[in-house]
Amino acid sequence: MSLSSTPLPHSVIVTRLRAAGCVFAEDEAELILSTAANPAELAAMVDRRTAGLPLEHVLGWAEFRGLRIAVDPGVFVPRRRTEFLVDQAVGLTRPADGPAVVVDLCCGSGALGAALAAALGRVELHSSDVEPAAVRCARRNVAGAGEVYEGDLFEPLPASLRGRVGILLANVPYVPSEDVELLPAEARVHEPRVALDGGDDGLDVLRRVAAEAPRWLAPGGHLLVETSERQAARAEETVARSGLRARVVTSDELYATVVIGTRPGTGDGR
Ligand SMILES: C[S@@+](CC[C@H](N)C(=O)[O-])C[C@H]1O[C@@H](n2cnc3c(N)ncnc32)[C@H](O)[C@@H]1O
Repeated sequence: MSLSSTPLPHSVIVTRLRAAGCVFAEDEAELILSTAANPAELAAMVDRRTAGLPLEHVLGWAEFRGLRIAVDPGVFVPRRRTEFLVDQAVGLTRPADGPAVVVDLCCGSGALGAALAAALGRVELHSSDVEPAAVRCARRNVAGAGEVYEGDLFEPLPASLRGRVGILLANVPYVPSEDVELLPAEARVHEPRVALDGGDDGLDVLRRVAAEAPRWLAPGGHLLVETSERQAARAEETVARSGLRARVVTSDELYATVVIGTRPGTGDGR
């Protein structure tokens, strides 16, 4: 039997992961073992993980709201805390009124739109991102559930969506530029800077999204953006300044902060 046909034993994988600083070595070993298709792939995955690649890039997927979301190298890994933003969006929709019109701006892997579509059943989903790798990945994750466009913020969206969007998800980059260097290597080295860097105060992309959102939202429609606890007050003010009714909601459990901006009116913003 050649070496490459002998699977690495579980205990060896755990030891190697632990030595490389993986805190949840046992859990990670299980995930790697259950994902690798053969002994050679298993060995390569352990090598990549011990070299510092994010676990999700090694596996090729991340769990998000119970879904297995494909995550390609160079694509932002959807974070568990962002499930809270999707929970809020689910709570704001009224499926009885028909399929919600959903836009997932800065969609990355497309996890948020895919999860909202899975939760609501029928939606009209439009996702977009500026990074070609993210767009390719999102197309796989929302296949059959919606369209994915490539370009800057709202620019690639069909103009026919103006004034019709019920739910506008926007997990924009929000790390202040000077803090990017302080992020863990998994993010700093393996996720694109454009996915993380929100400009001097972290709110540059949010300001652009908030300024345009009222033109795309239906009356009564909602913009949902994730932010940090530290930025929450300024992010809320930014959303309110665009003419939306703004409020902040938080989850202690997921350590998540979301700003919700609602376009005044009682139209069909579900
Ligand atoms: C923080 S990540 C969030 C990704 C995804 N929504 C999630 O939560 O997993 C931000 C995403 O915004 C995209 N992005 C940054 N600037 C953008 C812009 N001007 N237009 C469109 N997408 C942009 C990045 O490529 C990245 O995928």
